[in-house]
Amino acid sequence: MMTHDIAVIPGDGIGHEVTPAAMEVARAAGRRHGFGLHLTEYDWSCERYLREGAMMPPGGLDRLRAHDAIFLGAVGAPGVPDHVSLWGLLIPIRRAFRQYVNLRPVRLFPGVESPVRAEVDLVVVRENTEGEYSEIGGRMNRGFPEEMAVQQSVFTRAGVTRVLDYAFDLAGRRRGYLTSATKSNGIVHTLPFWDELVKERAAEFPGVRWDQEHIDALCAKLVLQPSRFDVIVGSNLFGDILSDLAAAVAGSIGIAPSANLNPSREFPSMFEPVHGSAPDIAGQGLANPIGAIWSAAMMVEHLGHARAAEQIVAAIAAVLAKGDVRTRDLGGTSGTEQFTRAVLAELG
Ligand SMILES: NC(=O)c1ccc[n+]([C@@H]2O[C@H](COP(=O)([O-])OP(=O)(O)OC[C@H]3O[C@@H](n4cnc5c(N)ncnc54)[C@H](O)[C@@H]3O)[C@@H](O)[C@H]2O)c1
Repeated sequence: MMTHDIAVIPGDGIGHEVTPAAMEVARAAGRRHGFGLHLTEYDWSCERYLREGAMMPPGGLDRLRAHDAIFLGAVGAPGVPDHVSLWGLLIPIRRAFRQYVNLRPVRLFPGVESPVRAEVDLVVVRENTEGEYSEIGGRMNRGFPEEMAVQQSVFTRAGVTRVLDYAFDLAGRRRGYLTSATKSNGIVHTLPFWDELVKERAAEFPGVRWDQEHIDALCAKLVLQPSRFDVIVGSNLFGDILSDLAAAVAGSIGIAPSANLNPSREFPSMFEPVHGSAPDIAGQGLANPIGAIWSAAMMVEHLGHARAAEQIVAAIAAVLAKGDVRTRDLGGTSGTEQFTRAVLAELG
């Protein structure tokens, strides 16, 4: 039997609750489809930061490098600034392993209440390693009236081209329609460059219809007419904002999955629910495990088991459609454990 070697980082808060649920479902799918998962758990987290002064130990990235994939629950804790968890763990992993595509599918499942009445089935492709999330810049004159901060955005031809190619190719395998998020009317250097590259790459994908929308108008349209979108591609910041917005449109942040992909497969990719550590509900067994389970399905697909991944998502959809087992964020009364059992029962 083929066994995949997975690094598991439950992280903080509800990460400890949704990660075991996701791994249990992925392993159950593996038993049906003839593959196994060998899990190695790492305690890298804000908890570790408070104890030892670092989110991960020296050499941590080298330990991850040897695995086939990485699964992350969520990081973040009250008392630890959010930039510590982001720059101490998530961003180093995304950058060291060239996970330049952040893939966030959004679907409104039958049976889920949403602020919109529409069919939603789209994917946000977020550039994941450059753009607005750059460490180039600085602060000067701290504490004086002329105090200032400067932060540079970085858009490279290579970095933008590779994420656009991924998004166009994905659109070609879906409904053949791509929307590029821009703001080239106000941001006059980087985003006109982005737009030019979109036009350039579009010529290589004649089967894909495409257009571009300014980010502000796009946010409004995503709420008013979410069904018209198929693949939306955006820079690091725009993609981040759009995917949380789209997740809320689809009913709950607890449902949304994500993959940080290294499409060349030179390094491991990382899979994680979009939500954070939710300290307000942590430790109570209330967390919705769908985002984590769906992320595990994306991992299983990346490892070459598309059929198993489809079955996991179908099992989630079936439980939601029946409607009797759902977590509180979706208006139900069930806990993490009960929902996970229902998904396992659907899987058979
Ligand atoms: N990738 C990550 O690990 C990640 C992502 C976002 C936020 N964070 C961190 O998480 C901490 C809390 O951040 P936040 O409150 O802004 O975002 P959050 O996603 O943790 O929570 C936002 C709201 O959604 C609810 N929620 C989130 N996930 C849920 C789930 N699975 N089931 C039911 N309800 C759910 C929470 O209870 C909360 O009310 C912060 O430290 C933040 O930095 C981490």
